[in-house]
Amino acid sequence: MVSRVMSHTSQRYEFQNKAGDYTLLAGELAGLLTGESDLIANAANTSALLFGALPDINWAGFYFLRGSELVVGPFQGRPACVRIAVGQGVCGTAVQRRETIVVADVHEFPGHIACDAASRSEIVIPLMTNQRVFGVLDIDSPRPGRFDADDQRGLERIAGIFVAHTRVDGGA
Ligand code: SME
Repeated sequence: MVSRVMSHTSQRYEFQNKAGDYTLLAGELAGLLTGESDLIANAANTSALLFGALPDINWAGFYFLRGSELVVGPFQGRPACVRIAVGQGVCGTAVQRRETIVVADVHEFPGHIACDAASRSEIVIPLMTNQRVFGVLDIDSPRPGRFDADDQRGLERIAGIFVAHTRVDGGA
């Protein structure tokens, strides 16, 4: 009898050398998504990979645009708010500005939406195809100031790999 084993052993990185570890993680993600373009499948595997690999985070996942609202997609972490209007919270603001937002202390961000009271810092990266935003990648940490410029560069690269492998309809 032939058994088929799908093994994907994601490792936990120490991130002492952030640029180097993000390069390894980017390669791991590209391998994980190769041959699959389904939006939900790729978002699910990407959030699982990130949640397992990144130290000091308590939420990693996706929101996708449905009309003028973001609706939660696949994620890892505590249950989250389902709908966020464009322009609201960190996620809706990232969509409106069409740029990554790094919040060192969520208590200092007017309009921050607290899904998990443990979250103290956050990074939200808009996902674009054909210059249209179709969602965001959102990562939260219980540690203030968790995300620096290296994390932003590394995670924007990760978001780019997700977009490049994934079939997307629509966008705004
Ligand atoms: N904090 C986000 C809401 C989503 S949760 O962090 C998962 C915001 O202000 O948009």
